Amino acid sequence: MIKDIQAEILRLKKEKDICILAHSYVAHEIIEIADFTGDSYALSVKAKTAPQSTVIMVGVRFMAETVKILSPEKKVILANEDAGCAMADQMDRELISEVKKQYPDYKTVAYINTTASLKTICDVCVTSSSAVKIVKNIPDKNILFIPDCNLGAYVAEQLPDKNFKLLNGGCPVHAAVTAEDVKIARAKHPNALLLVHPECKSEVVKLADYVGSTSGIMDYAKNSDSKEFIIGTELSITEHLQYDCPDKKFYNLTDKLICRNMRLSTLMDVYNAVQGTSGEEIELDGDTIVKARKCIDEMIRLGG
Ligand code: 13P
Ligand code: SF4
Repeated sequence: MIKDIQAEILRLKKEKDICILAHSYVAHEIIEIADFTGDSYALSVKAKTAPQSTVIMVGVRFMAETVKILSPEKKVILANEDAGCAMADQMDRELISEVKKQYPDYKTVAYINTTASLKTICDVCVTSSSAVKIVKNIPDKNILFIPDCNLGAYVAEQLPDKNFKLLNGGCPVHAAVTAEDVKIARAKHPNALLLVHPECKSEVVKLADYVGSTSGIMDYAKNSDSKEFIIGTELSITEHLQYDCPDKKFYNLTDKLICRNMRLSTLMDVYNAVQGTSGEEIELDGDTIVKARKCIDEMIRLGG
């Protein structure tokens, strides 16, 4: 049954000139039929070059908005219209406009997990895989980093010469993980390496053997000579790695790491979206696209 639906999606996307982009967190049966899968940075770069006239984003809203900003001439569909990001919804343009007034000589660096509207008043975007490199390449010393204080703290730790102002935002899924969770997982799996996402709190990040984006964690585990890994990001990554590396063992750092939004998109949503019967077409006004694009282009320029 799943194979039949996948075959029909593959047939229809070719017939209708559709590109399917899937974030690494989505279900395995969707990853199998996607044209491209990766972390937020890789998806942004891919969105710029995909030759198809329509893009279906299987991920969350800010990712679909990023595709629309980079390719306004394309029809961009978010596979499940309810898939938001709890972090992106925490801070809006009005709030950050006020904060910026208090820090006039700071560069505003926005994690890509922000709304298109908020990006219009920021200087440069970053993703988890590119943040350290990009902030390092910004000539300014003073950085207002929004909204994730955990990613911001991680970047600040790597770049002690810069002066960071962090706000009180972040991913509620990753921020729920504690050093006590690490202690329990390490005791259960003493030979495993701990790989975590920088959205986790610093008490967790500093105990890790590797810190990186979703793709970074996957690449590290695949290329490592070690055989056992504790995965400190959304549980889907543990499952994908187990498929990709059947000779290695992967354990969840904690069962709390479930992103409800990322799990909303199903294979049937993708099937209905390629049929044109569901999903939401992303519409952004021209002014938002032009202004938000500046900080995404700057991210790609500084990120290489
Ligand atoms: P990545 O850039 O690592 O894919 O992270 C996106 C995200 O939302 C992690 O929670
Ligand atoms: Fe947003 Fe957190 Fe879900 Fe990532 S895991 S999409 S940051 S809510």
